[in-house]
Amino acid sequence: MALLFFIGWVWVLASGGAWAKATTKAVVLFGDSYTDQSRQHSIQNGSFPGKDYQEIFPPADTAADGGVQWPWYLGLYGNYTIWNYATGGSVCSNDLTPINAPADVIGVQAGWFIQDHVVFNGTKKQKLDMDPDEFVVIVFIGTNDVGLNSFVTDGESPAVSLVDLAHCQLQQLRNLFALGARRFIVNSLIPLELTRLYSNSSDPTIYFSAPHDGVAWNKRMFNFVHTMNALLRSGVSALRAEWGNLATINMFDTYGFFEEMYNNPAKFFNGSIPANVTGHCHQCPDPNDFTQCGIGDCTLAQRDSYMWWDELHPSEQTGRNLAMETFKALTGRSKYLS
Ligand SMILES: *[C@@H]1O[C@H](CO)[C@@H](O)[C@H](O)[C@H]1NC(C)=O
Ligand SMILES: *[C@@H]1O[C@H](CO)[C@@H](O)[C@H](O)[C@H]1NC(C)=O
Ligand SMILES: *[C@@H]1O[C@H](CO)[C@@H](O)[C@H](O)[C@H]1NC(C)=O
Ligand SMILES: *[C@@H]1O[C@H](CO)[C@@H](O)[C@H](O)[C@H]1NC(C)=O
Ligand SMILES: *[C@@H]1O[C@H](CO)[C@@H](O)[C@H](O)[C@H]1NC(C)=O
Ligand SMILES: *[C@@H]1O[C@H](CO)[C@@H](O)[C@H](O)[C@H]1NC(C)=O
Repeated sequence: MALLFFIGWVWVLASGGAWAKATTKAVVLFGDSYTDQSRQHSIQNGSFPGKDYQEIFPPADTAADGGVQWPWYLGLYGNYTIWNYATGGSVCSNDLTPINAPADVIGVQAGWFIQDHVVFNGTKKQKLDMDPDEFVVIVFIGTNDVGLNSFVTDGESPAVSLVDLAHCQLQQLRNLFALGARRFIVNSLIPLELTRLYSNSSDPTIYFSAPHDGVAWNKRMFNFVHTMNALLRSGVSALRAEWGNLATINMFDTYGFFEEMYNNPAKFFNGSIPANVTGHCHQCPDPNDFTQCGIGDCTLAQRDSYMWWDELHPSEQTGRNLAMETFKALTGRSKYLS
């Protein structure tokens, strides 16, 4: 027991060490609505984010957490330039799980990164416009890949498995490595079984109002998330071995960090009412009528007491907490980085 603990401790120091020594000036993010600021709304608006896209912030537009999304806070806490390519509704690859969201991570989002940062000089050679030692790539995707109209509803193609979803994330990292990126973090999937949508209740929600077996969904989601995270973890280890000292790659245990918030609410949630990690602020009184959403919401003063904004999305305060823990990870001080 003592020996195991000792090995674990050395490992945390070793993995944190590489990050503590580094100078991070920018963070590049790929993902879905858990990370998107305004790209999906821009697409819905009929415009398509292109080179040098400027994110839109409240009050002009609110992210899926009801406010400002966590990458902005990460930029604030670490004085980093944020390049946020995450887009609501996205999956890793539309070839694997086409759930009708245009901007997949490995295709469209990677393409935006190339437009912004890869300089082609007239030959086949390309060059990054950032110093590889000074920026970090964070990939945080998977919620929609395993979710509605996909694995949880048996909507996926019969030829696609969770293994393919994990491989897609690793392929995204390989592609970015080929472009010159050298520092990577893969965020694990969060405990989706704790969201209202994937809880064991069979009651309708705004995201899925049709009858369904809540107990079955809840167990399946638990299984999907744990399996994905194990696949990602071994994939990250394999990439670390493959790249050796050419690159730094770690996993951020988003799952574990969300569990910590869930189990210690008072430490993380600071609105005007007691911390609440089971309900959510944003209400849709009629699950069949989007236009009623917002009726019965918690007040602005109460918001930061909630872990969840709605049936699926973490709250802005959860995002601030994630941003702070990620900042600690980038400076070698988080036990959730390994
Ligand atoms: C959507 O379009 C409106 C009107 O042009 C604009 O004010 C708003 O900023 C746009 N929102 C996003 C997220 O692009
Ligand atoms: C924040 O980052 C910018 C650009 O990298 C730098 O010029 C500035 O000095 C930094 N500010 C602080 C307070 O570290
Ligand atoms: C393009 O970049 C490559 C690699 O950096 C370099 O070898 C080549 O000379 C460059 N070509 C031009 C036309 O600048
Ligand atoms: C549903 O989950 C709750 C805890 O969140 C538990 O108390 C309850 O027994 C579960 N119900 C069923 C039918 O599994
Ligand atoms: C809660 O804490 C965050 C920092 O995590 C802070 O930015 C926010 O303003 C606080 N919320 C309230 C309502 O005091
Ligand atoms: C948490 O918030 C929900 C509203 O979404 C409410 O129904 C529930 O009673 C609250 N739970 C606690 C323990 O305050």
